[in-house]
Amino acid sequence: MHNDTAATPKYSRAISLLKEMRESLKEGIIPVGIFNDRELYEMEIEKIFTRKWIFVGHESEIPSPGDYVLRYIGEDPFIVNRDESGEIRVMLDACVHRGVRVCRAEKGNASHFRCPYHGFIYKNNGDLIGMPAQQHAYNGLNKKEWGLLEARCDTLHGLIFACLDNDTPPLEEYLADSKYYLDLLFGLQDEGLEVIGEPQRWIVKANWKVAAENFSGDAYHLIFLHHSAYEVGSTPFSMLGNMNGEQILAGNGHCVDISLDKTPQPVDMPYWNFPQEIVDTFRLDRLDPKGLEIVRDSKEMLGNIFPNSSFLLMTVTPEKDLPPVPFISMRQWRPKGPDEIEIWNWFLMFKNTPQSFKEASYRAGSTTFSLSGIFEMDDSMTWETITQTAGNRFARENLKLNFQMGMNGMGKAKRDEEWPLPGIAYYPRYGEGNQRYFYESYVQTMLGED
Ligand code: FES
Ligand SMILES: [Fe+2]
Repeated sequence: MHNDTAATPKYSRAISLLKEMRESLKEGIIPVGIFNDRELYEMEIEKIFTRKWIFVGHESEIPSPGDYVLRYIGEDPFIVNRDESGEIRVMLDACVHRGVRVCRAEKGNASHFRCPYHGFIYKNNGDLIGMPAQQHAYNGLNKKEWGLLEARCDTLHGLIFACLDNDTPPLEEYLADSKYYLDLLFGLQDEGLEVIGEPQRWIVKANWKVAAENFSGDAYHLIFLHHSAYEVGSTPFSMLGNMNGEQILAGNGHCVDISLDKTPQPVDMPYWNFPQEIVDTFRLDRLDPKGLEIVRDSKEMLGNIFPNSSFLLMTVTPEKDLPPVPFISMRQWRPKGPDEIEIWNWFLMFKNTPQSFKEASYRAGSTTFSLSGIFEMDDSMTWETITQTAGNRFARENLKLNFQMGMNGMGKAKRDEEWPLPGIAYYPRYGEGNQRYFYESYVQTMLGED
């Protein structure tokens, strides 16, 4: 009997879809099918999530030796911890004996992890140090060869990234021009930042790329989908003025989107609306003066570190007549299948700020960008229907999506040749260049051309 499956090379259908997309992207067109496709998803896990640097948490979550939290890279669970010597490690949560998960809690403090099945014991640096009845069962085993599997790990301003591929460049090189913008924000204070409360997480029935693409720079949806949020006065700046700004291609598929509205604001608070007493704690002298001069007028900045780590700084007016409050969110769009993500959302604030400000900032973020946030609910609703559309038979085969904003004079966005900071910038924010860039990097990575 003829066996078609045996003769079909791995991912052949996904590869032809990607090659089609590589061509259509030159015209700013993307087939909707990429947003809900099992074969493509499996390929993404192999070609993207095992190769790129992924944000997994912040140092402040594990301040003391033995502290750990449980996190994910692609589909795999990892223990992110600080070992006895103070070093941060990212270790696969799987026993080398049968693969049983050895970490039984979401967070805690442990000097050792003991597998519940046969009792292998691992130190919190991953070393296998013993097992029950060792002399009878395993006296010939070289335990040094059987520690927990470990990911590469590095940090930037306390942000912990992990990577499963030894050939991927070091984090700093990988971040390319996005590092400059992360420095501008996360490097503002000597004391650094800390996570406020616990990271929140919740499930959205959407493909991970939809979320990553949005944070790469979909400023356009702000003026329609989130119009009502602006109308009720949730932010201290004008919705249309906020569309002034730059969309920046920051290397290796990373994107930054930054509002720069120089028109007079209802409230003028430079440096992302931080109150003056907090701005006074910023090391403005240490950061690039060119960058500081520019971000002085910024009201919001967001971006996506390819593939699925995002950041957002925005300001919220908590109540009429109260001063605006900025919040900082880090995100991981954790893939859980072609049509599902678990959103991980950390709120961070500078350590050297009053507790009352940290709490106000947390509330500002929670009311806008969290499971119960007004912006978040708008976003989730649309992201889910994109993913449904992509899974439906007729749409999947026939629907091509328009990503042409800013191409060939379509709209006002054009290359800002004068942009003095790193990256390739486009002005104003009515453009989809960042999103096309995200997808170009996506196709290249998937096809092994990155
Ligand atoms: S599976 Fe862990 S000790 Fe057997
Ligand atoms: Fe949104």
